[in-house]
Amino acid sequence: MKIGILISGRGSNMVAITEAVQSGLIPDSEVAVVISDKSKAAGLEKARALGVEAVAVTRKGRTREEHDKEIVSVLQANGVELVCLAGYMRLLSPYFVKAYRNWILNIHPSLLPSFKGLDAHEQAIEYGVKLSGCTVHFVDEHLDHGAIILQKAVEVKDDDTAESLSKRIIKYEHESYVEAVRRLAAGEIELDGRRVKNRQKHDC
Ligand code: GRF
Repeated sequence: MKIGILISGRGSNMVAITEAVQSGLIPDSEVAVVISDKSKAAGLEKARALGVEAVAVTRKGRTREEHDKEIVSVLQANGVELVCLAGYMRLLSPYFVKAYRNWILNIHPSLLPSFKGLDAHEQAIEYGVKLSGCTVHFVDEHLDHGAIILQKAVEVKDDDTAESLSKRIIKYEHESYVEAVRRLAAGEIELDGRRVKNRQKHDC
């Protein structure tokens, strides 16, 4: 499975996925390219340090679709089959979603469908939930909306700030994203409408 990872910032989920691929935890796979929409994203250098090609494809005043067309062409030129959004801060255009339908994953730092969008940790604390966590899901045309592959719950403590909660959740994000990519790449899961199920094993 050739994987492309899209980032906008520090890229810790990208590093977790790349290390899992390189150590064989996600077998028979390769991270073919890392793309950032921000030229200064710290994750670009981290990807290069791991020996992965890393490029910035910035928006340059173009429409969402024009920008996405260039990103999709870089992914295709690198033979990418599975796209992982890892802290990628732009909504994908319908063009992008169609080009890789059901082969785009995202991670979000809340238990979706609660607290979509920006500042998920602040939203969780302000609402007063006792449990938050992270969600790995397929990407469709809507924000933080596609079918859910995996979720992990994390306790919200009385004295939590967005920062302390985010530090607790990020460790679970790394585990969850690696596990979700491994299961998808191994053909262990299948989509049934909005539900992601374990693929039935048939005896030969
Ligand atoms: C993570 O919390 C992720 O869930 C969210 O953005 C953050 C990215 O962190 N979408 P990193 O760049 O992977 O370190």
